[in-house]
Amino acid sequence: MSLNTCVFDAYGTLFDVNAAARVAANEPNRRLFKEVWPSVSSLWRTKQLQYTWLRSMTNSYVDFWSITKDSLEFALEAHKLLNDLSLKERLLALYWELEPYPEVFQMLKELKKNGTKTAILSNGSPKMLNSAVKSSNLYEVINEIISVETVKIFKPDAKVYSQVENVLGCSKSEVLFVSSNGWDIAGASSFGFKTAWVNRSQDPIDRLPHKPNYILEDLKSIPNFFAD
Ligand code: 2OP
Repeated sequence: MSLNTCVFDAYGTLFDVNAAARVAANEPNRRLFKEVWPSVSSLWRTKQLQYTWLRSMTNSYVDFWSITKDSLEFALEAHKLLNDLSLKERLLALYWELEPYPEVFQMLKELKKNGTKTAILSNGSPKMLNSAVKSSNLYEVINEIISVETVKIFKPDAKVYSQVENVLGCSKSEVLFVSSNGWDIAGASSFGFKTAWVNRSQDPIDRLPHKPNYILEDLKSIPNFFAD
């Protein structure tokens, strides 16, 4: 069966997870934060993902918004910024309207034009994902938004990827799964999807049993996988 469905990870793949800290750092009265925002953003993301994996492994699911708040608190405390409540609130507010990467809209528009079904499959809660899609004006170019909330376990658990078949009514052989997260690609490859890893930061490949079928620098070439 040929590829006719493209499923995207959200945070880090369509939406820039560092955008919240970068925007806040460039706002007035953020002198201290401006010096450390890359380190805060990186630790925030690392702890956010660690908490998803640990909570899946210990059967202690909470939604991604709770985890995003908990991991931000950890990152701010590690940088002695936990007392700056206005900074914390501003970072959390910005997380609901993360900038999409520059090539996203045009790429999704091309996929829609050539009749490819598109979906988001993400750890994000439904409300978070709807907010991100709405603030990026992507509603008209994304067919479905699928959250782990339905199965109450995080990626890379197979139950998450199996939602794609149930929600979109497709078989895994029709799907190209796209993510910037190497561990997510390993999980999706293990599940049986064709996978494209968007290696924006030229990271080494993860030493995991399943590898990406394709490695890309950005999303621009994704429509080529579906051209007639
Ligand atoms: C997502 O599920 C992995 O955080 C990433 O959108």
